[in-house]
Amino acid sequence: MEEINRINFLRAELHRLNHNYYINNVSEIPDQEFDALMHELMDLEARHPEVFDPNSPTQRVGSDLSNEFETVVHKRPMLSLANTYNRQEVAEFYERVRQGLQGEEFEICCELKFDGLSISLHYEHGKLVRAVTRGDGVQGDDVTANVRTIRSVPLVLPEGVGWPEEFEIRGEVLMPWASFDALNAERERREEPLFANPRNAASGTLKSKQAAVVAERRLDAYLYYLLGDSVPCDGHYENLQAARSWGFQISRDMRKVKTLEEIYEYIDYWDIERKNLPVATDGIVLKVNSQRQQRSLGMTAKSPRWAIAYKFQAEQASTILREVTYQVGRTGAVTPVANMEPVQLSGTTVKRATLNNADFIRALDLHIGDHVLVEKGGEIIPKITAVDEQYITAERGPRVEFITRCPECGAELVRYEGEAATYCPNDTACPPQIKGRIEHFISRKAMNIDSLGPETVDDYYRQGFVRNVADLYDITIDQINGRDGTREKSARKIVQAIKDSTQVPFERVLFALGIRFVGETSAKVLARRFKSMDALAAASLDELTQVDTIGPQIAQSVRSWFENPDNVFLLERLRARGLQFALSEETLAAQSDRLAGQSIVISGVFAHHSRDEYKALIEQHGGKNVSSISARTSFILAGENMGPSKLEKAQKLGIRIVSEDEFLEMIANQTGDSGN
Ligand code: IVH
Repeated sequence: MEEINRINFLRAELHRLNHNYYINNVSEIPDQEFDALMHELMDLEARHPEVFDPNSPTQRVGSDLSNEFETVVHKRPMLSLANTYNRQEVAEFYERVRQGLQGEEFEICCELKFDGLSISLHYEHGKLVRAVTRGDGVQGDDVTANVRTIRSVPLVLPEGVGWPEEFEIRGEVLMPWASFDALNAERERREEPLFANPRNAASGTLKSKQAAVVAERRLDAYLYYLLGDSVPCDGHYENLQAARSWGFQISRDMRKVKTLEEIYEYIDYWDIERKNLPVATDGIVLKVNSQRQQRSLGMTAKSPRWAIAYKFQAEQASTILREVTYQVGRTGAVTPVANMEPVQLSGTTVKRATLNNADFIRALDLHIGDHVLVEKGGEIIPKITAVDEQYITAERGPRVEFITRCPECGAELVRYEGEAATYCPNDTACPPQIKGRIEHFISRKAMNIDSLGPETVDDYYRQGFVRNVADLYDITIDQINGRDGTREKSARKIVQAIKDSTQVPFERVLFALGIRFVGETSAKVLARRFKSMDALAAASLDELTQVDTIGPQIAQSVRSWFENPDNVFLLERLRARGLQFALSEETLAAQSDRLAGQSIVISGVFAHHSRDEYKALIEQHGGKNVSSISARTSFILAGENMGPSKLEKAQKLGIRIVSEDEFLEMIANQTGDSGN
């Protein structure tokens, strides 16, 4: 059939383009054309569910369905490496290898030690079949769905390049610095806790239960170990070069060397140069290159004798603390910053370091004028790790006491129970908080007013005509035309975009308000339950906490927000401007309580709707989509190829299995009699 042929053609073509883009850095066609092909394929696949393929390029976008990770026992245990921090031990390793090989010549492959989390990928007949985390080395989590979203991991290998029918390749999943910075910026805006370093971010992401989240976060993967019964060469280095030709991302910074001096050269070079890499590294790995020699050297209980990791020292410097200043973030969180005598650290001059929070300062027993030790480890921001005690004298400067008033607006600071941070509670009049809220309001997942950016918001705020989100709706073309070089055409565009945002659905308006702890999901839940702004504003603490997934913290925050007269006034202005303050007729009509109180697991592949659509349908009818089967599961909505372990568990617990058609009937039957 013509369409099936086209699907096959598009899949192959998109895999090829993707490979050239992510592995060879060659962009053959413009992004829009790539997207157009991808969309064409998505449409065709939606029409032909019978040819569903988990390795199709379309699957890289992930599903926002919850994944349940199955535990998989590794075919070959995933050992870790012996670590060393000093050169002497590198020399001892070299000597042990030399003696172990009884004078035979050998080569050492020097590699970067990537700082992410290790992954094992399995390929059969040129296709990715499974991706497993290291876990405890013996067994790990099956994270295949998540790994499929990583663009540099090939899903289908090109034909005719000589890959073995079956092999395993191991490597590291990483979050590049650029993705990490963007992610943290976004989290800061959403009042979510920040990731300390790219490794934590990569690990949190790979273990996310939603592949769509993983897809968004832009992970990367470098592979460094090829295993299997029929790998092409005896040389580890040579095998990896072959793997590169099969489409894997292999570091180009590996070197084969013979002498200890060459090893030291490699270490010295990368200790400096690694700072220019797009991903985090924390050392180098040395491996005996020949697999035959590796086997003859063997292993200890924990790690191979043929490899060692040399870890770079987290660089430290000692300097003098001059002053502590305080920054107020968009969420009102107040961060103490140490201002120090400038000092060289990891190739940059450092004069400021974070002091985290009040408890951290107290624990350090910090005084102005103290000599302090500053470190720049895997973290981006340098931090003070200790007071350099050898310099402490009888006359120490004044002890550092956390401020009690906001440096931006003078309000008295507060600490919320169970939180380390100190906050400025003046969220309606403290400038950085106001600007932050406006930026949140216009952001993509909120009102999506994309012709306005943070700089523009800042400008409007400073000029004084935008002091809150309602002011945006009063902006006129004349007011912004010519301002800071804004031309009339873009002025019109901005005003139109603001006007268009009045059509954004209620649940997103609710999210856009920036009520503390009310993220995208809670906003949806609240919108669905209360249906209008007025009903939500009138809801008591009790009514709020009774809503599934709404805890006391969110409930209290919602109550306080609606009780604040400034917010009440703001809402009235937004209402007058025509923003959506209730679920639309359409959404309401589509809703029912048919599945109320039911916990439903989705499993398998479906013909009529995507998994995401089924999830939305479940929610629309008052049910809850849960990821794993338990005694409380009401039923399983099962498509084709339901996972065997899920099936077994369901049978054991006697949980009903509902087919796609039965389910559709279940919700169709009842249209109109729900009373909504
Ligand atoms: S080889 C038996 N090579 O470091 C050899 N590991 O403790 C197995 N890592 O768990 C590992 N970069 O997650 C190897 N170029 C590299 C590496 C590397 C990072 C990680 C890996 C492993 C840990 C070693």
